Amino acid sequence: MASKPLKTETRGRVAILTLNRPEALNALNSELMNEVCDAVAKYSADEKIGAIVITGSEKAFAAGADIKEMQDQTYMDVFMSDFFARWNEVAYARKPTVAAVAGYALGGGCELAMMCDFIIAADNAKFGQPEITLGVIPGMGGSQRLTRAVGKAKAMDLCLTGRMMDAEEAERSGLVSRVVPADELLETAIGAAEKIANFSLPAVMMAKESVNRSFEVPLDEGLRFERRLFHSLFATEDQKEGMTAFVEKRKAGFKHR
Ligand code: HXC
Repeated sequence: MASKPLKTETRGRVAILTLNRPEALNALNSELMNEVCDAVAKYSADEKIGAIVITGSEKAFAAGADIKEMQDQTYMDVFMSDFFARWNEVAYARKPTVAAVAGYALGGGCELAMMCDFIIAADNAKFGQPEITLGVIPGMGGSQRLTRAVGKAKAMDLCLTGRMMDAEEAERSGLVSRVVPADELLETAIGAAEKIANFSLPAVMMAKESVNRSFEVPLDEGLRFERRLFHSLFATEDQKEGMTAFVEKRKAGFKHR
């Protein structure tokens, strides 16, 4: 029997989703992405979970959408099924998501990583949008999120030439938040997720929403949105606990409410 394409586990308040199609370098087929979306929805709704890590193998985060699944699809097939539309659910998760990327993150793989809140890369990571080599273009945010992350010059370069960029270039360009040795990747990502998951969950969720809002609205609207969320946090027990713990020189014990 084939092994499950997505492995899930929890460690304390962190959920870890591991893409697991080694025979296809974790190429993202519909079955796998449905499982990813289901798992993100499930853990987002689980009050015991405070952050989600999405990772692959040391060789590949994901080498793209599954080309063999797409090869014979017609325009009517992809249009009528709104192919890929559901994948965006990962970006709309309300709980924080961290992509831990080693090896190839190409096409839909790069796009899945960019749907997460931030990307921690192994030093062997390679990012790219090679769809142009297949006669298509990115379909799940590659021309949009990549451009917002790295600017027009690099986004055009990657989308038009299909070349890959290594972890060092990706960090320099602002696509990834940090680069670590490959054998430290997962522990670093889980450590970051644990740290986030132990902060006040409403504050974390609002911080995420506020940063994301900056991509949608003019500065003045964004500043007002941020300020209103900031005000609202004074209605939480966690604000009282966080500030009292600081004054009392002790560690805060957040209740996520
Ligand atoms: C289906 C894939 C695949 C993919 C690799 N494989 N990528 N299968 N879809 N995206 C399969 C290969 O067919 C092969 O299976 C096995 O995985 C190992 O791959 P190799 O090519 O033999 O490995 P290697 O020589 O190490 O080369 C690695 C690679 C290459 C450079 C990453 O596999 C590659 O270029 N892959 C395609 C990358 C790509 O174009 N991605 C974009 C897809 S389009 P067999 O059975 O032969 O052993 C896309 C559109 C997104 O993502 C739109 C919105 C989501």
